[in-house]
Amino acid sequence: MEHPIAVIDFGSQYTQLIVRRIRELGYFSKLYQPEELRETGSPAAVILSGGPRSTLEPGAPDIDFDHLVAMGVPVLGVCYGMQLLNRKFGGEVAPGNTREYGPATLMVEPVAGGLFEGLEGHSQIWMSHSDTVSVLPPGCEVVGRNLDGIPVALRWNERFHGIQFHPEVSHTHEGTAILRNFLSLASNLPKFRISSFKDELVERVRSEVAGRKVVCGVSGGVDSSVLAALLHEAQIDTRNIFVDTGLLRADEAAEVESLFAEVGIEIETIDASQRFLSALAGVSDPEEKRRIIGRLFVEVFFDAVGEDVELLAQGTLYPDVIESATSGSIASTIKTHHNRVDRIMQLKAEGRVVEPLDELFKDEVRELGRVLGLPERVVGRHPFPGPGLAVRCPGEVTEEKLAIIRQADKIYIGLLRERHWYDSVWQAYAALIPVKTVGVKGDERSYEYALSLRAVTSEDAMTAAWVHLPYELLAEVSNRILNEVPGINRVLYDISTKPPASIEWE
Ligand code: XMP
Repeated sequence: MEHPIAVIDFGSQYTQLIVRRIRELGYFSKLYQPEELRETGSPAAVILSGGPRSTLEPGAPDIDFDHLVAMGVPVLGVCYGMQLLNRKFGGEVAPGNTREYGPATLMVEPVAGGLFEGLEGHSQIWMSHSDTVSVLPPGCEVVGRNLDGIPVALRWNERFHGIQFHPEVSHTHEGTAILRNFLSLASNLPKFRISSFKDELVERVRSEVAGRKVVCGVSGGVDSSVLAALLHEAQIDTRNIFVDTGLLRADEAAEVESLFAEVGIEIETIDASQRFLSALAGVSDPEEKRRIIGRLFVEVFFDAVGEDVELLAQGTLYPDVIESATSGSIASTIKTHHNRVDRIMQLKAEGRVVEPLDELFKDEVRELGRVLGLPERVVGRHPFPGPGLAVRCPGEVTEEKLAIIRQADKIYIGLLRERHWYDSVWQAYAALIPVKTVGVKGDERSYEYALSLRAVTSEDAMTAAWVHLPYELLAEVSNRILNEVPGINRVLYDISTKPPASIEWE
């Protein structure tokens, strides 16, 4: 899409959120590294993000200011971005002794207008910085202050604006209005609607594939299903491979097959469950389990498609791309196991991987799936990890434990659907706690495993909060599991946030 709103990433943990907020406002936005400023082409506007460093540090991230000025479009500096702009215009920044982190109050100057048009005079903003602007260059206007009178919003001229706080986080109550006001200063704003973007994607993937044969791994999850549907829509000659790892939920393989049959997409199922279970026998280290599953998955997949892969299609999403490009975080390590293993990296280096969803966020992929005619039970599905139930079965994976998890999970998810909770949680599942405890069943002593139920809300899985499910619902789930699932005599509800816990157990 031409003229995106370019967000320049100086490394803040919130940068991705700026892109999201702009897309939520209905415009197309993309993230770029500071050295990629020229590659943004002719964006409609530029936003310089926050960042963890100080502009005063030697080697701190910089921007080609002359080029930025020459672009002739509105520019908004956020936090680090504002301090950098202030220095570029000839002002100064002073090192802070402590980091100001948390809520503050924005007091809008009467002259403000522009960015603050239509805002309340006072509103809550969210700060996260240590340096502060100390000297303003000539011509720079203060348009907002905090309660101590310190400037937190600047205007250097008609086009260049800066705010010390983060408009992209929800704790800045009028943040979206500020971003909307900023965008209203731009012309040629690129409207972003999935329905029209779909046609562009179809064209794009067609020209990228250029008549070659494609293979695509499908899992029944949202991303790969939408990918397969997109390739189908583009009438691309595709082999869709579904690997049954034996680590899937109850009835999953059959469901995936019926689902694809329903939308007219052919898939080939490879039942590799015995291979996975034997490879996992006796292994209890979580990382070792992941390595085995990741390696075997690629092996099984390539055994099936042979060596003659012309092109491999992957359902990599925008956050995965950003994650692996910008940080060594856990999330990027997670994806390493699947989308970024050696074999695939090699194909990528040879230009033989297509990732048509790599500019989209999860909710946008869901929307695209709907536009492509996928049923709600696919697009609304909770995420499911590549290593499957193995990460919900701490310690050694056995058939017996998998059977328990499957039965309990089916009861739990079934009730969440029935009681209309499924769609309002990000992810929910049952995990086995591999510890046996004493109980009484009938008149007899039992000595069986415990089970954990988890339900979380999240935006893109980076953080998560546990869901306050009603006690009545939890009671019903627990009763049914204890009565119907052999091998379990205790059910617990997981009340851990991420961080410090993760969403999965391993
Ligand atoms: P954690 O447990 O790290 O999970 O909080 C975050 C999100 O990622 C999913 N997940 C995975 N997805 N391969 C995947 O494709 C994996 O190895 C993997 N591990 C976790 C998890 O279900 C959650 O949505």
